[in-house]
Amino acid sequence: MSLKKNRKTRLFILLFLILSLLAYAFLALRSGPADQSPTAAQNNRALIGGPFSLVDHSGKPVSEKDFAGKYMLVYFGYTFCPDVCPTDLQTIADSLDMLPEALTEKLTPLFITIDPERDTVDIMNLYVQQFHPQLIGLTGSVEQVNAAKKSYRVWASKAEDSDSSEYLVNHTSYIYLMDRTGGYVTHFRHGILPNDMTTKLRQNIK
Ligand code: NI
Repeated sequence: MSLKKNRKTRLFILLFLILSLLAYAFLALRSGPADQSPTAAQNNRALIGGPFSLVDHSGKPVSEKDFAGKYMLVYFGYTFCPDVCPTDLQTIADSLDMLPEALTEKLTPLFITIDPERDTVDIMNLYVQQFHPQLIGLTGSVEQVNAAKKSYRVWASKAEDSDSSEYLVNHTSYIYLMDRTGGYVTHFRHGILPNDMTTKLRQNIK
């Protein structure tokens, strides 16, 4: 009788231990740090990017469909920007120069103006040439640019401390890497070094 009872108790303890282990493994898998970044990336994937209808620096109307099939490096800014935009565009240009041709030909760098009133097709044309032969400048009507900004969750605001045409525009300065279907892959912050951008691009462009 007591032997049987012992056996039952042991079996019970064993079962309890197995269940505890399973529960622990389940919780560890669910809350592990490895789970955080894919979730954040999925959220960004749902939020960032989408359709746009703009005009390129040669005056040709374009949409996101014209760039499908290649990765896009998307940066919003304006040509009158004194420091942030030129720095980021130079980083993009330097990074493109460091990448092997096999990767750069899979990538289209886009500079979309947030200041279409001043950034005409001709100004965009002159401006992008200063940075990289691959860089495509996009402008359009105020409505078209607003729609593109909305797709990419870009915030921009004129700093109106004077009524001159020399105004500045404060703006978010993320550089987005989008995949062949226009889906968000990752982003780069202002100030990233060309070396670091090159490394990250190598890792993400397939
Ligand atoms: Ni800027």
